[in-house]
This record gives sequence, structure tokens and C-alpha cells, in this order.
Amino acid sequence: MSATPVNILAIESSCDETSAAVVQNGKVLSNLIATQKVHEQYGGVVPELASRAHMQHIVPVVDVALKQSGVDKKDITAVAFTQAPGLIGSLLVGACFAKSFAHAMDVPLIAVHHMQAHVLAHFIDDPKPEFPFLCLTVSGGHTQIVLCRSYLDMEVLGETIDDAAGEAFDKTAKMLGLPYPGGPLVDKYGALGDPLRFSFPVSSMEGYNFSFSGVKTAVLYFLQKQKKENENFVTENLNDICASVQYTIITMLMNKLRKAAKELGINHIGIAGGVSANSALRKTLLAEGEKNGWQVYIPKFEYCTDNAAMIGITGYYKYLKGEFTDLNVSPSARATWS
Ligand code: KG4
Ligand code: ZN
Repeated sequence: MSATPVNILAIESSCDETSAAVVQNGKVLSNLIATQKVHEQYGGVVPELASRAHMQHIVPVVDVALKQSGVDKKDITAVAFTQAPGLIGSLLVGACFAKSFAHAMDVPLIAVHHMQAHVLAHFIDDPKPEFPFLCLTVSGGHTQIVLCRSYLDMEVLGETIDDAAGEAFDKTAKMLGLPYPGGPLVDKYGALGDPLRFSFPVSSMEGYNFSFSGVKTAVLYFLQKQKKENENFVTENLNDICASVQYTIITMLMNKLRKAAKELGINHIGIAGGVSANSALRKTLLAEGEKNGWQVYIPKFEYCTDNAAMIGITGYYKYLKGEFTDLNVSPSARATWS
């Protein structure tokens, strides 16, 4: 007779994606994501609208995730949810749902840190990284170099002191008149342009830290100046501008990653978070890997941006270690995790 499977129901609601997944013994059975279109017209995520949309989506999303997985809610072993960091109203919706479900079904509750989950997205599919490995975690709110010693033993070696890499992409897109979220569009147009056509300053922070506010300001002044001379400058040069800004951001990320790999003597390297969906970053990492003899790990696209599968996989490793949380746990907008 086979052992009873460990079925984790996972909930992610930290920003503008309502997601639910079922993970069985570390394998993803379903991963549903409801994207909130309502923010597009405002050029960024409106927190109050995000919370309301989560409230509308959460029940149907969980319902479909359960149905697609073929696992009955009675057979859920534990519930994992994003406890931090994120928009507090959005986190509250997921936390309340997870707590209620755990309480009603009398199963343990597992609190998950969103950034740790981005890193552990590497363990959803093969090939899985070997420990220790370095993970460049780049999202809309964070930019970190993380030393991963084991599934749950991670250390943030450096991070951005101002804007995140994703913000630098999104703000550039906004200045170019592109809709939110602009990162994927900068990627799309950048792929058609010349990355060396325009140059922007590459900041160099101490240690493994990053700063992206300088490049944002440089792009702003550059565009103001060019538009004074030619009002069609952006439309006529969109691909080259996107390619050049993208190249600058990726250069800053790679400089620090190379430094960390060299100084720590680690050659297993991964990228995670929404910006790791960027095609130029993926290509550059592969090329750097070849050059430096790194073993490179890149998650599938659907596991780069926010998703509950990564919360479920993290929940699974926490379940194996018995890391449960109380029903009176509160979500937190900001939280350190290593
Ligand atoms: O991890 P994520 O989905 O949410 C957060 O935890 O923040 O990351 C979202 C960020 C946004 O800034 C978005 O523009 C960026 O990831 N992003 C991209 C790409 N796809 C998503 N940036 C550049 N190129 C992409 N292809
Ligand atoms: Zn994220």
C-alpha cells in the first residue's frame, strides 16, 4: 500500500495576481493565476482595487485549482500562503482565506515568505540546483543576491538600496508611454533594437548591493532632451531605447552576480522573480555561464512571475520540517527572511 500523499493547497495574493495551486509530494498538480486587468488604465497597481479583486477571485481560483488537481478538499494536508512581503490589503485576503480553510478543515497552516518562494521555484521542475547555489532574485519590488545553503537556509548577500530592477523596467516603460506592467514590453521591443545605441550610467554600489534610481533619472533627462529636439524621438527609436536601457540594467545585475560567484567560489547560479522572465537576461545568463563555467538554472516562464506553485513547493519543504504557524498569524507588508 502506498503512503498517504502530502497535498499542499497554496495561496498567493501579495500583489495583483490571485493564484492558487495544489502541490502533491513536491509535484505541482495545478497552478491557477487570475491576473487583475483593472490596474492597466492607472499605469500601476492600485492597492485598494487589488484587494477588492482578490476578494472576487480567491474562491473561484481555489475552486478551479482543486478541481484541476483532482484532489478533494478533504484530502488537503496543509495550507500554505504568502505571509510577506507585499501589499497589506492583498496579503490580508489570501491570509484570511488560508486561515479559514485551515481552521475549517482542521489542517496545519504554513506561512511563506514570497521572496524565498521565488527562489524555491527552481525546485518545481528538473534540473534542480545543487546546494550551495547563488540566486539573483529580481522582481517588481526586490532585487537580491541570495546565497542558498539548503531549501530553507538562505542568506541575502546584497539587495537594492532604492528601486528594484522590475521597477526600473516598469518606470522606463511608463516614460516611453507604454502601458503597465511595462517590463515585458521593454523586453519585446528591446529584442528588436541595438543595445549599444544609447548609453546610460552603470551604478556601482558597495558589496553586493544595487541601485537603479540613477538609471531611471538618466533615462528621464535623456528623453526630455531628445524630445525637445525631435518630438517623435520615442516612436522613431523605441526599439533601440528599450534595448539600451535593458542592456544597462542587465549589466548592473551581471556585474554583481559575477563578483559574488567569484568571491564565494560558487558556480551554481540561478535567476528568479518576474524579471527573470526577461529574454535578454536569460540569454545573458546563459552566455555568462558558458564563459565562467557556471551551471545555470532558469525557471520556466510561468514560475518566474508571481504564482502559487512556488508557494506550494516552499510550503512542502516547510511541511517536511514541521514549520507550521499559528492561526493568529498576521500578514506583513515588509519582512526580512534571512
Ligand atoms: O515577481 P513578480 O511577478 O512580482 C513581484 O513580486 O514584484 O515581478 C513583477 C515584475 C514587474 O516589474 C514586471 O514588469 C517584471 O517583473 N517583468 C519583466 C518581464 N516580465 C515581468 N521585466 C522585464 N522583462 C520581462 N519579460
Ligand atoms: Zn514576486
